[in-house]
Amino acid sequence: MAPIPKGGTVAVTGSAGFIGGWVVRLLLDKGYRVRACVRDVDDDKKTAFLKAMPGYATRRLTLHSANLDDDGCFDEIFKGCHGVAHLSHVSTYDDEGYVRRVCDHIIKSVNESATVNRVVVTSSIAAVISEQDMQELVRRPVLYEDRYPDEQNPKRTPERGQGYSIGKVLAERIFSDAGEESGRWDAITCCPADNVGPILSAHQKNFGPWQHNIETMLLGEYSQNVVGAYRPWFTVDVRDVAEAHIRMLESDRVGNGERLIAWSTETRNVEDICASIDRLMPELGFAGATLVDPFPEKIQAREAELRAIWAGCELRNDRIVATLDMDFRTLDESIRDCVESLITVGNVKPVLKPGFEVPSAG
Ligand SMILES: NC(=O)c1ccc[n+]([C@@H]2O[C@H](COP(=O)([O-])OP(=O)(O)OC[C@H]3O[C@@H](n4cnc5c(N)ncnc54)[C@H](OP(=O)(O)O)[C@@H]3O)[C@@H](O)[C@H]2O)c1
Repeated sequence: MAPIPKGGTVAVTGSAGFIGGWVVRLLLDKGYRVRACVRDVDDDKKTAFLKAMPGYATRRLTLHSANLDDDGCFDEIFKGCHGVAHLSHVSTYDDEGYVRRVCDHIIKSVNESATVNRVVVTSSIAAVISEQDMQELVRRPVLYEDRYPDEQNPKRTPERGQGYSIGKVLAERIFSDAGEESGRWDAITCCPADNVGPILSAHQKNFGPWQHNIETMLLGEYSQNVVGAYRPWFTVDVRDVAEAHIRMLESDRVGNGERLIAWSTETRNVEDICASIDRLMPELGFAGATLVDPFPEKIQAREAELRAIWAGCELRNDRIVATLDMDFRTLDESIRDCVESLITVGNVKPVLKPGFEVPSAG
């Protein structure tokens, strides 16, 4: 199917979110018309940053309230759109029936629009790497687009924490099947890794979880328990993920069912992320932070083994680089810009060494 036309109209679900906000901003920068979907247009804490974007004044950017738990909420919004970037979370990933229902009604709105010819579905590396049995990563350590978690493992259940991964794999398939069946639009999947980079609105510091974890570092105490036990962060800059979404809408080298992982392949342990703050911005005078390890003794005893399993994984991004000509920022740049935005946009007050203070803006 054809890519979307340059300057066409794109609906973005999850526009108030960390990645969605950047997709809106970059689409506007590139000359597109954007229908930003949020749950509540009048929730200024979440939407003021969108309304402050220049395209809002000319109505090139419009905001729309849509709770995806309501069937048909996108019917009117998608009419006349060429593309949809579906970045929104859902209310729960643990209920397969619910995930199916939500996908189905979004697909119905795409079909009924009669104008949408491409949908980018935001999945996650959790749909690539999240294993119930860590030995599966030893058996299949190459982390690339054709890899899925071991779906035959009987312990792969929401009750054991696999709901997010299961829900994301399911949504990927439902959209690809629907694109195929329609014969009129393509579903392209983006699997982003751990997003680091600047927040655009203060409320975004509470989510992530990556930017939120950097916030906790700045406040003096952070946790080992952000991802699978002792996994280093597998990072990507949020601006690069947004750029990848737009290139997936624009590219004539992708077709229905394409799946691309968005990561730079740079990895770093959480304690080294924290140490990077002072290394990159010594002028700030960051006092450092205490690492809390919340894992039970049984898991702590396996720390060296688990770290070795992660270190043995091979992260690949050759497919997205070749297909979309992507160039990824360094993690240092992402950490620097994340920290500076947390302080200036998020109003975070970092713990500082004696004699240092954050200069006031006014
Ligand atoms: N951040 C990462 O590192 C990362 C990594 C891999 C994959 N992803 C995927 O990327 C997507 C965006 O992530 P993000 O970090 O930008 O998330 P985020 O900042 O938490 O934003 C997600 C947005 O989803 C919206 N949302 C949640 N439930 C909704 C509902 N029932 N109806 C309508 N909207 C709903 C929220 O809208 P409102 O604010 O309007 O309420 C929120 O702004 C997600 O699908 C996530 O799984 C993220």
